[in-house]
Order: sequence, then C-alpha cells, then structure tokens
Amino acid sequence: MEKEMVIVLDFGGQYNQLIARRVRECNVYCEVHPYNISLEKIRQMQPKGIIFTGGPNSVYGEGAAVCGKEIFELGIPILGICYGSQLMAYLLGGKVATAPVSEYGRTEVEVNTNSALFKGVSEMTVCWMSHTDYIEKAPEEFQVTAHTPVCPVAGMECPEKGLYAVQFHPEVMHTVEGMTMLRNFVMDICGCNGDWKMDSFVETTIRAIQEKVGTGKVLCALSGGVDSSVAAVLLAKAVGKQLTCVFVDHGLLRKNEGDEVEAVFGPEGPYELNFIRVNAQERFYGKLAGVTEPEQKRKIIGEEFIRVFEEEAKKIGAVDFLVQGTIYPDVIESGLGKSATIKSHHNVGGLPDYVDFKEIIEPLRMLFKDEVRKAGLELGIPEHLVFRQPFPGPGLGIRIIGEVTEEKVHMVQEADYIYREEIAKAGIDKKLGQYFAALTNMRSVGVMGDERTYDYAIALRAVCTSDFMTADCAEIPWEVLSKVANRIVNEVKGVNRVLYDCTSKPPGTIEFE
Ligand code: XMP
Repeated sequence: MEKEMVIVLDFGGQYNQLIARRVRECNVYCEVHPYNISLEKIRQMQPKGIIFTGGPNSVYGEGAAVCGKEIFELGIPILGICYGSQLMAYLLGGKVATAPVSEYGRTEVEVNTNSALFKGVSEMTVCWMSHTDYIEKAPEEFQVTAHTPVCPVAGMECPEKGLYAVQFHPEVMHTVEGMTMLRNFVMDICGCNGDWKMDSFVETTIRAIQEKVGTGKVLCALSGGVDSSVAAVLLAKAVGKQLTCVFVDHGLLRKNEGDEVEAVFGPEGPYELNFIRVNAQERFYGKLAGVTEPEQKRKIIGEEFIRVFEEEAKKIGAVDFLVQGTIYPDVIESGLGKSATIKSHHNVGGLPDYVDFKEIIEPLRMLFKDEVRKAGLELGIPEHLVFRQPFPGPGLGIRIIGEVTEEKVHMVQEADYIYREEIAKAGIDKKLGQYFAALTNMRSVGVMGDERTYDYAIALRAVCTSDFMTADCAEIPWEVLSKVANRIVNEVKGVNRVLYDCTSKPPGTIEFE
C-alpha cells in the first residue's frame, strides 16, 4: 500500500509526539525518528515532508543534536520548529545567538499572511514561545515571515527549496492558529491528500506484527483496561491462536472487574483468544505488606506482574513475544524519552530489568489515548469497552495512599463503585475523562449514630482531559457529590469522611501516587 507520510525528526524536544499526532489529525500518517537517522533511510521512507522538533540544546552547545545539511538537498519540504528552526538557520549560513530577552509562554507574533505557511492565519496571532537562543539573521536565500518585538526572526522560509521555520510551537494548543499552520505545511506545502485514517494504522500494524511474529508464540498482558484490550484484539486479529492472553487478577482491580474482563475475553466472550486468568491476589498483598512508598509499590506490582507472566509463559512453553498496551503518554511520563521522570509509570518504567521473553511488542506506543480509542473502534471492539475510562496497571495499589491491605482494597472498591454508579445515573460519565475514588491515609474523627468514629477519608477525583498529559478538575454537580458522599459514609465500613480533589494536572497528577 502506497502510504503518504510525514516524518518528525526528534531533536529532544518535549512535544515531539504531539507534533506527530497533530499531523495525524490532518489524516496524514506520521512517525517520529531520531534526528541522526541516515539519509538513506529517509529516502527509502519517501516522506512527503519532514519536521524538525524543538530541543533543549543550543546549536553551539557541546553535544548539540545536529544533522548533516545534505538533508536540505533531498527536495523534501522541511519545517523547523523552535530548536529545529535555529538549526536550519545555523546549517544554512544564518546567525543564531542568545536572545537578549528569552521568550516563554503566550506571545503575540506578527506573521506575513502571504506565506503559504500562514495562509488563513491572523496577522497578529498568539503563539507559544519557549526559547533562550533565537535566529538573529536568516540565511541568505530566506525571507523573514514572522517576528515579535524581541524576536526578529520568529518565522522564515525559502519556498523554492520547500524550507520553512518557526521559532514558536505550532503543535501546542496555546498557539491559537497552530493547527492551521501545520495543516498548511502538511497539505499545501508537502502536497499531502490526507487520506490516512486509523484503519490504515490498524491494517499496517497488523501486517507489521505478522511479519515480526512469524510462527512465534505471543503472550499478552491483559489488564482489562482500554489500552491492553485494544492491544490484545489487535494481536488476536494478527496472529489468532498463537496469542495467549494472561489476565492477572492482582486483587487491585475495581469491584467486579475481574469477572467482567473474563466475560469479555474469556471462552464465553466474542474473541477467539487463548485466555488464562491467574488469581494472584494473595501473592500481591503479601509482597505489598508494609510498603508505603509509591515508587516502591509500583515497582513491586510491576515486577510481580512480570514474574506471574513468566511463570505462565513457561507453562505454555517457548513464548517469544510479550505484548503490552503501552501508549505514548506512558512512555513520555516514565522518563524513557528525554523528558524528566514524573512517575515510573505505566507498565514501562515499572518493568524489572530481567524479562524472560525475546522481545516486547508495544503496538500502541506512539498513540495518544483518544487515538487508541479510535483504533479500538476500527477493530470492532464494543463502544462500552472502548470508552471505558482508563485504569492504571498498578490498579488500586496506587489509589490507596500508604500501605495496601485487603481491607483497604475493599473500602476503595466499594466507594469507587458507588461513585461510578452515581455518576452514571446523573448521565455525566461521558463528559469526564476519568473519575475514581482513592483512599487517603488520613483518619479523622466523626460521629455515627451516637458513636465516635475514627476512620479513613475517601478522596473523589474527576478530571476532564483528552490526552491525559494535562487535565482540568471537573465540576461535578453538587447534588451528585453530596449524594455520593452520603452513600459512601453510610455504606462503606471504615470510611467516615469524603473529600473532593480540586487539583488540575499539572501541578497534580491524575492518580494520587
Ligand atoms: P497520571 O497519574 O500520571 O496518569 O496523571 C495519567 C494517566 O495514566 C494512567 N496511569 C497509568 N496507566 N499504568 C497504566 O497503564 C500505570 O502505571 C499508570 N499510572 C497512571 C492514569 O490512570 C491516567 O489515565
């Protein structure tokens, strides 16, 4: 299949996958590659366009990420963003210097709307800047197409060579007309048709998996969450019965979840999978006893998970591949990219060093959550599963602050169940990105009947988000909250107080640990 593609060359910026995602939003396939990929490889891929990302370095800095300038001779349109724009200027004979005033945040930029890149953009437009260096002088053949009072070259271009550059970040939401600029680049300048859709991703991925796996055996770590379910069905479509899905019930699932997962993926469900459910509750509780440090809890759960899988794999014999539903925010927030580690999150950072499989397959590694959902729908997974709210791999283990015990698991399960039930009854579930109950480590005094209580506080969390990398605290109607609080205190033994978390992300994270 002839595939229209734009590639993003990664110079170490924060928003690399976001750029790729924005290109995919134009219905053009996009992949991120390291900045030092060979020209030969680029030629083989035949991209219709190339985007240079931002990066933390100065072009003059020691160890700066610099590519050869032959790339500009390929005849492929290139858009340089932030560091990428400075690199373009630097390599082509312009002048890059430390700006007298660094620009950070929302900045009004004056653009030349005759530029193909700025077609349809307002002359004064708000853009997101984040730079210390700037282009002082554009290279000879370039025209300046944008500036701010303190940044003389906020945009430049050499249309004859298909070279465009912007100092700001068109990919982030704060650049109000950024999507128009990216669309101009991808559609008009690169000449893409925009006929790529998620079904192409599904098709291509299935084929790539088939090639990689051959006749090998595959084990899928199924948690019942959206990501691993989509990964499992993708794998099932690719390799059928070569796949065994192992569902570890670690005793840290939501109420009834183990049975629900089994109903969908087990022998009674619609999919032709080998399905094994391992009831390992006691084992996990044992390992977690006395552990309070969040990272340690994550590591223990992650490690125990893998050990269980390894044991199952040995029983099956000669398992070559392990599948995981890792998605892009997991990768970036686990600090596996170049950004800072926030939590050793998400199935990735939590993995032990020794994993007894030939290879790990992560087919969703480049997708954002909403893209995973689109892929899920393409795969024919029922909507109620696809739109299920995300649930972290370490489960309730990271929604119980402090030590995890069976009793606490029970409390948080019951509270969460009530919360979900009331949210659904109020018909607001679709409006929320994620909502759940967590058990705090705080005990306080209350009164029930005529008795003094000294019990735990449940924290309710609800956020609105599309990419889960940032999130706003949701405004749940007061009647709903007070009903939930009432029910929890009355129905869940050991809880006498309910709090609502009003923090957005950042500075908070969605989960508590
Ligand atoms: P945070 O708490 O980092 O969470 O704001 C962002 C999203 O990721 C989910 N999450 C996880 N998912 N394994 C997962 O599969 C994990 O270890 C993990 N930790 C957090 C979280 O529920 C939210 O949707």
